[in-house]
Amino acid sequence: MKKIITLCLLLATVLAPAAGEQLPVYLDERQPVEKRIDDALSRMTLDEKIAVIHAQSKFSAPGVKRLGLPDFWTDDGPHGVRPDVLWDEWQQAGHTNDSCVAFPALTCLAATWNPSMARLYGRSLGEEALYRGKNMILGPGVNMCRTPLGGRNFEYMGEDPCLASAMVVPYIQGLQSNGVAACVKHFALNNDEENRFKVNVTVSDRALREIYLPAFEAAVKRGHTWGLMGAYNLYRDQHNCHNRYLLVDLLKGEWNYDGVVVSDWGGTHDTDQAVKNGLDMEFGTWTNGLSAGAKNAYDMYYMAMAYRAGIVSGKYTTRELDDKVRRVLRLYYRTTMARKSGHGFLCSEAHYDAARTIAEQGIVLLQNKRGVLPLKAGARRLLVVGENAIKMMTVGGGSSSLKAQREILPLDGLKARLGSAVQVDYARGYVGDTTGSYNGVTARQSLAETRSAAQLVAEAVDKARGADYVIVVGGLNKSNHQDCEDHDRLDYGLPYGQDSLVEALARVNSNVVFVNISGNAVAMPWSDKVAAIVQAWYLGSETGTALAAVLAGDVNPSGRLPFTWPRRLADVGAHALGAYPGTWRPGHDIIDEQYKEGIYVGYRWADKHRVKPLFAFGHGLSYTTFAMSGLRLDKRRVAAPDSITATVTVTNTGRRAGAQVVQFYVSDHSTTVDMPVKELRGFARVELQPGESREVSVVLGGHDFQYWDEAGGGWQVSHGRRTLLVGDAADHTPLRADFAVE
Ligand code: BGC
Repeated sequence: MKKIITLCLLLATVLAPAAGEQLPVYLDERQPVEKRIDDALSRMTLDEKIAVIHAQSKFSAPGVKRLGLPDFWTDDGPHGVRPDVLWDEWQQAGHTNDSCVAFPALTCLAATWNPSMARLYGRSLGEEALYRGKNMILGPGVNMCRTPLGGRNFEYMGEDPCLASAMVVPYIQGLQSNGVAACVKHFALNNDEENRFKVNVTVSDRALREIYLPAFEAAVKRGHTWGLMGAYNLYRDQHNCHNRYLLVDLLKGEWNYDGVVVSDWGGTHDTDQAVKNGLDMEFGTWTNGLSAGAKNAYDMYYMAMAYRAGIVSGKYTTRELDDKVRRVLRLYYRTTMARKSGHGFLCSEAHYDAARTIAEQGIVLLQNKRGVLPLKAGARRLLVVGENAIKMMTVGGGSSSLKAQREILPLDGLKARLGSAVQVDYARGYVGDTTGSYNGVTARQSLAETRSAAQLVAEAVDKARGADYVIVVGGLNKSNHQDCEDHDRLDYGLPYGQDSLVEALARVNSNVVFVNISGNAVAMPWSDKVAAIVQAWYLGSETGTALAAVLAGDVNPSGRLPFTWPRRLADVGAHALGAYPGTWRPGHDIIDEQYKEGIYVGYRWADKHRVKPLFAFGHGLSYTTFAMSGLRLDKRRVAAPDSITATVTVTNTGRRAGAQVVQFYVSDHSTTVDMPVKELRGFARVELQPGESREVSVVLGGHDFQYWDEAGGGWQVSHGRRTLLVGDAADHTPLRADFAVE
């Protein structure tokens, strides 16, 4: 014993700083983090504690200068690092070193069905954030796509909890590997944007657990996200930034979350609830959170002076405060106080490569009649039509708007790829939104147009005659009431007269290819009349390059839809049941939105009501063909919590290398519990050379065999027969195998 003590003393003497420079525990990297947190906390004054839990500027919160804990900087998120704004204004700071690489929108990332792309995305974005001095990126978003009108669906990862969970985890891990925190948003039930501050969602516990929460749960439990942002809307009559059930009972209780809950900007409304219901850091827009400014705005925050006064008067103890500060300190030790692995990179070629690869893998070939794509080598004249072929899309859409260092437009990408061998003409076809600016960042282009709609169509039709191909690049944009924060779309149709433009072009040319730029499905009443349809999302900096590579066939498309593409709005549960946008209470302060369709979202609704979507969830074509065979299970009976492994052989039966996304759905034949026809439980993307075969396997277990029991308030194993359905889209699952859960 004596020996050990002597040794310890000796070690302590060797490791300790020189005499008179005693390193405090909270600064001592050899000490366990929780001990350092305790020590830092014990040294902080009440004012310092109050200061670190709320903003001091639009995107920062103060650290503790006296103790050498730096300021904490956040920034949007989630598609690139947002340009810097002034300290307390939304106007641009006017820096010349804050342009970034714009990565594809998260719908595109989800459409890759490739978790390694999510890791690459997170890692690359984290490197940009690190370089820019941002400690937390406000993203990724994982609210489920419930209606194609949803204004922010483009920032989210589709309609399916299994897919979104698989994609969000590596994104977070990649980002945080740089010492930059993720802030997963918007927790929870932000499934539409209209009236977002006033929507009070009512949803069954089962739909909450099975559809709306799994991706958040995965982000917390598997991704170990360090940050999470509350949503603007309400649930159970309480705003979600201080929602007792969601934040205290579920997130911090049941899920044991040890990170911080950040309010959405201006999403805090009440000091008492903010104190008691799990909010850790308050950020905002103006004093009242939304619309009005004041000189000492940040002191007026709900978790600033009002909270301090409550503590001084004895209304609150410091119990909640210390818990909040502990979490904030933990965040510091993970970010600002962590030893950095590097300094990050801004706009590196590696980041452009990442953006391009993700874009290429996310583009979905929805229709390809007569194998019209890829563009044939003999093509001599190609006509490109549409505003979206020349419109910058990295500007707009709300907080995810970027100042991209470069953005290659579709028309430019095509011209560069096809070179002088092909004559590439352009016709505008329609005028959409020509303004193109957000918070002082203005698209570096003029889209001014004086000709009438009829003249534009006539010009396009005229040029389309005799062209080998007509590539219409249309869809939505990032303006209000399109794919944009704060509002939803007003209708399902394409705007700006695009339907009649496409029909007119299809009448004079049989090789019309419609490239849809959007984050949502849109009505395509003319789909039978065009040869090909390509879903190209918002692809960011490398839009034109990635699109041209797919159209020209340098890249074989492998993206798959992360949501169901309905023919009409009435084929969507929320709309069929009149559950959207909800019902105003007297006084118009709250609009109640009841998710009447329950768990029947997306393909679950389409399956149940046997509605044939225009394009199914998981659908996407390739320039090659694949076969799947030999589905087998490692057992026929499984007793939970055991798992079962399913294996299938995939073969590339065509003449080009390509990637297939094998999708494993499970049908639960329970006679006692209401079950969807099938649910995605696993998937695997596999790249194959012509003639090559590979086996892919997925393991099913845990929640895959369970449902949320409303009455019992918990997960229950559903015992009985199952059918595993394997295929390459929700409407194409040719392989089947039965098993039983005992
Ligand atoms: C958005 C958030 C965003 C924040 C900061 C809010 O309006 O809802 O997603 O991170 O602003 O820009």
